Amino acid sequence: MQQAIGILGTGRMGVRLARMFAAAGRDVILGSRDAARAERIVRALNMANLRPGSYDAALAAPVVLPAIFIRDGLFEQLEMYRERLAGKLYIDITNPFNSDYTDFILPWSTSGAEEIAALLPRTRIVGAFKNVWWEVFDEPLFGGEPSDVYVVSDDPAARREFLCLAEGTPFRYIDAGPLKNARTVERMTLLSGELGQRCGFFPRMNWRLLGSLRRPGAKDALADLIAR
Ligand SMILES: NC(=O)c1ccc[n+]([C@@H]2O[C@H](COP(=O)([O-])OP(=O)(O)OC[C@H]3O[C@@H](n4cnc5c(N)ncnc54)[C@H](OP(=O)(O)O)[C@@H]3O)[C@@H](O)[C@H]2O)c1
Repeated sequence: MQQAIGILGTGRMGVRLARMFAAAGRDVILGSRDAARAERIVRALNMANLRPGSYDAALAAPVVLPAIFIRDGLFEQLEMYRERLAGKLYIDITNPFNSDYTDFILPWSTSGAEEIAALLPRTRIVGAFKNVWWEVFDEPLFGGEPSDVYVVSDDPAARREFLCLAEGTPFRYIDAGPLKNARTVERMTLLSGELGQRCGFFPRMNWRLLGSLRRPGAKDALADLIAR
């Protein structure tokens, strides 16, 4: 069954994720605080299954992907939406960056994903795309190879649902375990951002943590590990 995805926020990630999911055949509502802005962006993208709207319209979808920074008040907005998000699949892409991207605004003992799960106890949370810098969506293949996306969740059904939605998108999805692994996944973005800028690789990087050489006999384990 086709599940519409409601995206909140028309910034760098929101627009690209909307375009990516629509290109893969999903129905997408791109929501903005300024509905006219969403309208303009959607008109320019000109995709049959992508429509513009308000946050209210995007929140009506059964799958919701807020593309808003924690530092810009995401948690406060989610508190207002708690009832509307109950039972829905929530795709969490947050990295808790401060405003100059030098550190995180959450302590080591938690993650954006876990804080969202605590705020929305009746919502099914899946974390993904945290290591994909926005520029990569414009050119997702590295030497013809798709880049890895680490998928974290405490809800196996939600993870499966997410992977169905991601079918046909230009990434390789890796089951990265429980939601608390988001602490590591999010901080990988912080470290890679720092290293990438220092060494001149930023932002087209993070394509494959596991490398490309599989040990002999690892095929069966790989089938469990890679979620697609
Ligand atoms: N940038 C990356 O490369 C990257 C990579 C992985 C994950 N992420 C995560 O993706 C999320 C979005 O990142 P982004 O780079 O797309 O951010 P962005 O370009 O700054 O866009 C964020 C959007 O949030 C919406 N918004 C809602 N309330 C806001 C407020 N009070 N102030 C400012 N904007 C507000 C705005 O959309 P409307 O005006 O349309 O409502 C805005 O365009 C963040 O959680 C970030 O950690 C980013």
